[in-house]
Amino acid sequence: MKVTAIGAGYVGLVTGACLAEMGNHVVCLDVDEDKIRILNSGDIPIHEPGLLEIVQRNVKAGRLQFTSDAAHAVQHGTLLFVGVGTPPGSDGSADLRHVVAAARSIGRVMTDYKVVVDKSTVPVGTADAVRAAIREELDARGLPDMPYAVVSNPEFLKEGAAVEDFMKPDRIIIGADDEQATLLMRALYAPFNRTQDRMQIMDVRSAEFTKYAANAMLATRISFMNELALLAEKVGADIELVRRGIGSDPRIGYQFLYAGAGYGGSCFPKDVKALVRTAADNGISLKVLSAVEAANERQKRVLVDKVVERFGEDLRGRRFAMWGLAFKPDTDDMREAPSLVIIDELTRRGATVAAYDPVALAEAARVLGPRDDVTLVKRAEVALQGADALLIVTEWKEFRTPDFDAIKAVLKAPVVLDGRNLYEPKLMKALGIDYRGIGRRC
Ligand code: NAD
Ligand code: UGA
Repeated sequence: MKVTAIGAGYVGLVTGACLAEMGNHVVCLDVDEDKIRILNSGDIPIHEPGLLEIVQRNVKAGRLQFTSDAAHAVQHGTLLFVGVGTPPGSDGSADLRHVVAAARSIGRVMTDYKVVVDKSTVPVGTADAVRAAIREELDARGLPDMPYAVVSNPEFLKEGAAVEDFMKPDRIIIGADDEQATLLMRALYAPFNRTQDRMQIMDVRSAEFTKYAANAMLATRISFMNELALLAEKVGADIELVRRGIGSDPRIGYQFLYAGAGYGGSCFPKDVKALVRTAADNGISLKVLSAVEAANERQKRVLVDKVVERFGEDLRGRRFAMWGLAFKPDTDDMREAPSLVIIDELTRRGATVAAYDPVALAEAARVLGPRDDVTLVKRAEVALQGADALLIVTEWKEFRTPDFDAIKAVLKAPVVLDGRNLYEPKLMKALGIDYRGIGRRC
């Protein structure tokens, strides 16, 4: 089939590449000329395991192209996936300007039947706005009878596992009220749906809502565990044992119950805010979800609280090693990363930070800009030199079994504050390390 992906970011590029892998002919469109230049040079602009290989293979096979030419891209596809950003506006609502711009660029040039697929995370009712924007452009061109359908197909991939998640989805949600569009979507997704029928066809509004409900539920689990972790420390319980204890109940399950330094990333924070906002616009106060957000803001500062407890409020002259900058492992994405809040809080109190991340250093340098109080270093050991304590912020695999003797030898004092609960407190104690995790019993 002929497919166009509008927006070649995490979602658009993964969608385009994975659909090309199944034999479709895909054109990816982006307004960012730099991204298109990188993609046309044989590279990819993001760190995402397995993606480069799929992109290169499909470009070579002639099934995948990248362009900033909207007319060419729109004319190519029968199915047009819109995967542009929907960042939070100042009032928390999703800013739909890129979605509407994409819809207009479709309406301005389309010459035959198109299925426009909203893959971005968009509030309930957005498909109607997309439909209206296309209609306006067609009317302006004197083409009021040009047929098209707008479908909602929210994406559930996780960064760092995006290709795997796209190729083996738990579910494929299609919100559609047009029979021909539904048939085309079924055919497109058939190869991802072989062992078990994972497709759920529903009305457009329920599909749009499902995406927010899923992210809100996952964020709720995390904030809930983070709050219990705070209490566990006070009452002498160990949150890791509690996690296993409750996770064994199949009604609860083990996943997304890890206490940590708070959730970050481009989605949970913005989607929780947007759902709270949608509710407020409809006269409903979502009390649980508002608390989820507030708890997460507090949680991003929990490692700093532990620093202050150990070293005092005045951190002038102190230096801290930080392992991990990306908001989660296997990505270089720094959007809403807890590391940024921690860096701000430590440096605001006069400390300096030496930070290491296996892949996010370039992105961190871009986001942080030049500054004297933060040094980005290329090796984990280098960050430790002369530091008062080690802070672990992202659970990269290479941090899981470090040389603890070397850490002890290089730090000024053997203090490890672990925002991702990587180590066993008893082992740390036996090694003579002053170790504090999140909700762990020391
Ligand atoms: P992103 O910022 O990585 O990519 C968006 C791309 O769209 C950018 O490259 C931008 O230049 C391009 N763009 C903007 N306007 C355009 C236009 N008019 N025409 C063509 N290109 C345009 O964003 P992302 O992380 O891929 O997220 C996209 C959407 O998918 C968001 O709504 C997000 O909530 C949702 N989502 C993201 C993830 C994720 O893990 N990142 C997962 C599921 C859903
Ligand atoms: C999340 C969802 O998991 C995806 O299903 C969804 O498609 C995506 O948002 C989206 O809509 O963009 P992502 O943000 O890429 O994916 O990564 P997650 O693995 O969900 O992690 C998000 C944050 O939660 C990270 O900061 C992570 O450290 C934190 N987290 C996750 C915890 O603190 N504890 C956990 O148990 C799990």
